[in-house]
Amino acid sequence: MMEKLSYILLLILQLFTVFAYSYSPNPRSGHLSAFINNKLYFISGSTTLDRAVISNDFFYIDCSMNFNSSINSIPYTSLSNLNGIPSIDVAGSSIVGPYNDIILTFGGIGLNNSYGYQLIYTFDTKSLTWNSLSTYGILPPIRKGVRPVFSYGRLYAFGGFNNINGTPYNSLDMLDIGFNWSNITLSNAPSGRDGYVSALLSNGNILYLGGYISGQTAGLDIVYLYDTNNNLWQNMSTAGTTPESRGYFTSVLSN
Ligand SMILES: *[C@@H]1O[C@H](CO)[C@@H](O)[C@H](O)[C@H]1NC(C)=O
Ligand SMILES: *[C@@H]1O[C@H](CO)[C@@H](O)[C@H](O)[C@H]1NC(C)=O
Ligand SMILES: *[C@@H]1O[C@H](CO)[C@@H](O)[C@H](O)[C@H]1NC(C)=O
Ligand SMILES: *[C@@H]1O[C@H](CO)[C@@H](O)[C@H](O)[C@H]1NC(C)=O
Ligand SMILES: *[C@@H]1O[C@H](CO)[C@@H](O)[C@H](O)[C@H]1NC(C)=O
Repeated sequence: MMEKLSYILLLILQLFTVFAYSYSPNPRSGHLSAFINNKLYFISGSTTLDRAVISNDFFYIDCSMNFNSSINSIPYTSLSNLNGIPSIDVAGSSIVGPYNDIILTFGGIGLNNSYGYQLIYTFDTKSLTWNSLSTYGILPPIRKGVRPVFSYGRLYAFGGFNNINGTPYNSLDMLDIGFNWSNITLSNAPSGRDGYVSALLSNGNILYLGGYISGQTAGLDIVYLYDTNNNLWQNMSTAGTTPESRGYFTSVLSN
């Protein structure tokens, strides 16, 4: 009797394993991604057009595989059985930590347009654990469409939009290594925007481009630079054929 039972349990476990490997995520937008140690992780996002359903799915693609034409499908692996996965839409993320192996999420919109959730969640890719990070100091308002940047133990969160009260932000908030927030907004900071792209340049400047300003897409003809070493803002005009203005797009800086 016991043997039969354990045999059935084993069968269920094997079936479960097969399903786990053939994981096929729902279509979505507003999710996050992060590339760490050859794994491209995907987090949460909305699976419906009206954004009423916000998933807490968590899965990855192992990019150590050989991507060539003999491969007809790229397998996803689900990690959705882990505890503490956030349900957030149009949040921001950054790769942080002394070994660049922790995913940090910032803000976003929660279920039913709520902002009643944690400002920051972290996922440690070594211990496979999600945590809600407690921070203090001058707490920044929770908001969507921020693309945070991590540099030398500091997290820089610029701009964003609160779609409950319709407030666009142009504040620049900085989280230090002791999880202490300070407000380093300068009077000549760019106007409030969300859904821009950001990149940390090798000279310590953070580049900001595009996004939404008061519901209008921002032109790609001006690049904003925040100098993390000297705490100052600059802007530069771009040259060449300017792509159409846009917000909520993505970018990758390749060295
Ligand atoms: C394509 O990938 C397969 C599986 O990894 C490998 O056996 C094959 O040699 C690769 N072909 C090329 C042209 O790289
Ligand atoms: C979100 O709204 C739906 C529909 O109004 C409701 O059924 C659900 O309980 C709400 N969820 C939360 C977490 O507020
Ligand atoms: C940060 O400073 C800016 C400019 O003084 C201000 O508008 C904003 O409300 C401040 N943010 C917080 C969270 O105190
Ligand atoms: C936190 O940051 C503020 C600057 O916003 C600073 O004045 C304060 O000393 C810091 N607190 C600690 C414990 O580091
Ligand atoms: C660019 O910087 C200059 C010099 O600080 C400033 O006068 C100008 O308003 C800025 N332009 C924009 C679009 O922010």
